Parts: sequence; structure tokens; C-alpha cells
Amino acid sequence: MRILSGIQPSGALHLGNFFGMMKPAIELQEQGEALYFIANYHSMTSLRDPAERRHNTLDVALDFLACGLDPAKALLFRQSDVPEVTELAWLLTTVTPMGLLERCTSYKDKIARGLPADHGLFAYPVLMAADILIYDSNIVPVGRDQKQHVEVTRDIAIKFNEAYGQTFVLPEPRIREETALVPGADGQKMSKSYGNTIEIFGDEKILRKKIMSLKMDSRTPQEPKPDAEKNLAIQLLRLVAPPAVARDYEDRLRAGGLGYGDLKKALFEHYWNYFAAPRARRAELASNLDAVNKVLDGSAEKARTLARKVLARARLACGLD
Ligand code: ADP
Ligand code: TRP
Repeated sequence: MRILSGIQPSGALHLGNFFGMMKPAIELQEQGEALYFIANYHSMTSLRDPAERRHNTLDVALDFLACGLDPAKALLFRQSDVPEVTELAWLLTTVTPMGLLERCTSYKDKIARGLPADHGLFAYPVLMAADILIYDSNIVPVGRDQKQHVEVTRDIAIKFNEAYGQTFVLPEPRIREETALVPGADGQKMSKSYGNTIEIFGDEKILRKKIMSLKMDSRTPQEPKPDAEKNLAIQLLRLVAPPAVARDYEDRLRAGGLGYGDLKKALFEHYWNYFAAPRARRAELASNLDAVNKVLDGSAEKARTLARKVLARARLACGLD
């Protein structure tokens, strides 16, 4: 089984990225041949600062390694170190119906938020399809917002296979329902683009403040809260505290008598402890960037060998050999 996923170097890792994609991806490294990459080509659709891209790219590598990616079990590489994906993206683009891309909600959302409607943003799912298909990937662990892109990938693969004969493996998205959509500080989906993120690594004071300012309603501490399971701090506590502890806070909130301030303090403590080991490991890795770059370079070489084979198969199928 081949497992593949990517994450854009477009900002600091947050709880949504971690629980929606990174943690499931890292756990899957035990179950098959795992390939994870830093989608720096994709980040060009939203980020125009070269220094920031370089810096963020290394940050994503540090995040993955600090959170438990084992380079002996999984590959971790920069997307642009396998330039073959851009050639495959062209081949795929010629069998991709416009309507398929026009239906992509992520494109429509980004335009609505003010990103310029350029061709890169529109064609983004085709490059993502190339990322997935070029490694004969079976499983793609992602958060719910990426599900449609994996479905588009399947549709494109089917179109190509119909036109040129059986060439590509059809991938499946792997989404964990319980963490498919982690809410942010305002209760909406946590996302860099909504400015509601809680980062995994960063300054303790700033992160404490973010948690202490999570949006709550105006009910008094004494009031019973029959909807305690929907409380934002409870939802986040469930991710970072042992289940019995989270259940206890939820029961106390439901019964009345637990103030939001105390609940948020508990959330901060659990969240801070949950990431204590990765934080220490990340600091250690950051002081040895040579080793990190070695992982990226070595993985890219292996990924490229796999990619070249599939690209050759696709070129042969469509008469480009
Ligand atoms: P952002 O929305 O912050 O820009 P990305 O689009 O870079 O995040 O997402 C990287 C990965 O993290 C994707 O697999 C995505 O599905 C997942 N992800 C992002 N935000 C969330 C969230 N709030 N809940 C669950 N998964 C998420
Ligand atoms: N589009 C994904 C995101 O924004 C990143 C990505 C690029 C990806 N190529 C991929 C994810 C291939 C999974 C598989 O999060």
C-alpha cells in the first residue's frame, strides 16, 4: 500500500493541520510505503515572497520530523525536487474538463476571499492530481476540505485511462471523521486564511492568550449547559487531553459551576503538555539543519526514481516516447 500526502509551506502548523492531516499521516507510516512532501509549487498560488517560501519549507520539514515522521519509514521531500510532476500535470490537464475544476469549492472560496483568479489557482487541483498519480498512490490522508481534490484526481485518472488505456492507479482519500474539521478560535474551521489558528509551535505567552480568548457565549458559570459537548474549548480539549479528563470537564460544564476561564486554563495546560516532547525535539532538530536537509535530499532522490517510472508509463501511453 502506498500512502501519500502533502502540505503547503504557507504558514505555521496549527491544530487543524496537525490533527486533520499530519498525525494521521505519521501514524500511517507504520502501515505501508509512505511519501510526504512539502507542496512548495502549490504555495506559489498564494505566497509571493521567496524568502518566506524557503523559510516555511524548512519549517514544515522540522514540524513533520518533530511530530514523529521517521525517515527510516517514510519519505519527506520538497515537491519541487521532483519536477516530473509538472510535466505530468500538463498531460493530465489535456484530459481535464473545465467543469470539473469550476466545481471545486476551494477555488471558489479563495476567489471569494480576494485571491486573484489566476490560472495557477484554477489549475491547482490538476497539479495535486499529478502529485498523487505520479507515485501510484493508494491512500491519501487529508482533512475534509481536501476530499474534493482527491475525488477530482480520481476523475482525471479515469479520463486519462479511458483515453490512453489503463495507466493510473485510483487513489482514495483517508479522512478521520473525529478530526476532519478542527474548529478555530472563532468556532469556524481552523484555517490560516481565517486568522483563527492555534499554532503547535510558538511563543508560550502568545499561545496562552489565543486560548484564553477562545470565543464563548455569555452564560454565567453557574448556569447548566446542556449543549456542553458543542463548546469550543471542550472540542479542543478532547483532542489534547485523555478521554476521561475531557469527559469530566464536559460533565462539569453541563452541570453548571465551571467557568469558561477555568476551562480554558485547563485546555491550555493540556495542550501545552501534549506538544512538550515534539517542542523539545523540534528545537534539537533546528540546531542541526544539515541532518534535516539530508533527509529532504535523500527522500527526493528516492521519490524521483518512483516518479520517473510512472511518468515514463504515461508518456508511452500517450505516444510521447
Ligand atoms: P489552511 O486551511 O490552514 O491553509 P492547509 O490547506 O494548508 O490549511 O491544509 C493542510 C492540511 O491540513 C490539509 O490536509 C487539510 O485538509 C488539513 N486541515 C487544515 N485545516 C484543517 C482543520 N481545521 N481541520 C482538519 N484538517 C485541516
Ligand atoms: N492541496 C493540499 C493542501 O492545501 C496540499 C497538497 C498538494 C496535497 N498536493 C497534494 C495533499 C497531494 C495531498 C496530496 O492542503
